[in-house]
Amino acid sequence: MTNKPHSHAQWSSRIAFMLAAVGSSVGLGNIWKFPYMTGESGGGAFVLVYLVCILLIGLPILMSEWLLGRLGQKNPISTMSRIAGRLKRSQAWVLIGVGGILAAWLILSFYSVIGGWALAYVRYGASATFTGLDGDSVGTLFSDLLASPGTLLAWHSLFMVLTIAIVAGGVAGGLERASKILMPALVVLLAVLVGYAATTGSFGEGFDYLFRPDFTRLTGDVILAAMGHAFFTLSLGMGIMMAYGSYLSDDVNIGRTAMTVVILDTIIALAAGMAIFPIVFADGLDPAAGPGLIFQTLPLAFGNMSGGVLFGTLFFVLLVFAAWTSAISLLEPIVEWLEEKTPLSRLQSALVAGAATWILGIATVLSFNDWSAFTPFGMTMFDLLDYVTSKIMLPLTGLATIVFVGWFMGRDEVRAQLNMGSTAFAWWRFSARFIAPIGVAIVFVWGLMH
Ligand code: PHE
Repeated sequence: MTNKPHSHAQWSSRIAFMLAAVGSSVGLGNIWKFPYMTGESGGGAFVLVYLVCILLIGLPILMSEWLLGRLGQKNPISTMSRIAGRLKRSQAWVLIGVGGILAAWLILSFYSVIGGWALAYVRYGASATFTGLDGDSVGTLFSDLLASPGTLLAWHSLFMVLTIAIVAGGVAGGLERASKILMPALVVLLAVLVGYAATTGSFGEGFDYLFRPDFTRLTGDVILAAMGHAFFTLSLGMGIMMAYGSYLSDDVNIGRTAMTVVILDTIIALAAGMAIFPIVFADGLDPAAGPGLIFQTLPLAFGNMSGGVLFGTLFFVLLVFAAWTSAISLLEPIVEWLEEKTPLSRLQSALVAGAATWILGIATVLSFNDWSAFTPFGMTMFDLLDYVTSKIMLPLTGLATIVFVGWFMGRDEVRAQLNMGSTAFAWWRFSARFIAPIGVAIVFVWGLMH
């Protein structure tokens, strides 16, 4: 990512920054992953822990990444190296950036496969495949897709090519303009779906499922999953937000901006849940169906509402778009790093990083069919990649980030960056030094042991 000189028109750089941050955070995590994790974890208790983690852990870490990025004005590795050097701290802090790049590669490999599912569903939507589906046939449609490695690979490849094209070619200008229309359109369509869910007769049941916690469902693993997802959905623990922080001009209020991103991201996830669970209960589907949940519920809605072909196609187009902007943010740091550390050009770096991700993605493609019985540590390759990134790598790099800001940076320097009133800052600092790091550490250790 190149640094925008501060002489840029403030307002355009502020919009560009918001679009990049929202584009990265809002994606499959909100619409695909959040509902199915909620279903697998038994509903409200997971949602509650997730919301607490977003607020007490996600928000301060997001702010920390941005303030580091704005101070360092470089890619995550150089930023950490520069700030640690200036403060005479160990260069080991650079590991935050390195761990982030590795995590981005692992995540993008499976993210692209799921992006491919969404592409496949654009095609189903447009060819009116959803019309007249019932609970069974919608399941068959999905399981047939998963059973075909060739088809999955083709869609995964297309998704990767789309991502590489943007990162290599930098047609980002057009992407920004498109975001301004397509992101709000996604919100509108989600609202339409929630409206449809309200007509299923099971809206109350879906609502209760999401918001009435059943604490007997709270195991260590559920809590760890909720915290891991807070990192995933906000794109934290990977240096991505740190890289975006270098775009931030000095007069932007980090706290307020972070709050905006967090609220938007959370509303979109909750709306997806509100659209999906009433359909699950109205049609007698299994909330714990796993990663296929949205692909087995929303087509039912589209198949039964008027204008369903149009809405169905549009919805999956918008889902692809949201996934695409997140995928770009995942590939970008890897490419940037290759470009700086090797003699490769930007185009070559994008091709190499993209190819490496594409190849690893094949493991996820096969985990749903030919390799489904290959389960190291008791997990399929897809589950393993998800577990290692969300439940181990992101929390660890996130923890390191907030410990650095809370304990290894000067109070005044942090305060100048955050530009808060003294009481608000005292609270912020307390959460950055104690609540967030201790929270991550407890959930992490306890979750892994249970
Ligand atoms: N936050 C994105 C989502 O919710 C996924 C993502 C994770 C993007 C990590 C970038 C980094 O879909």
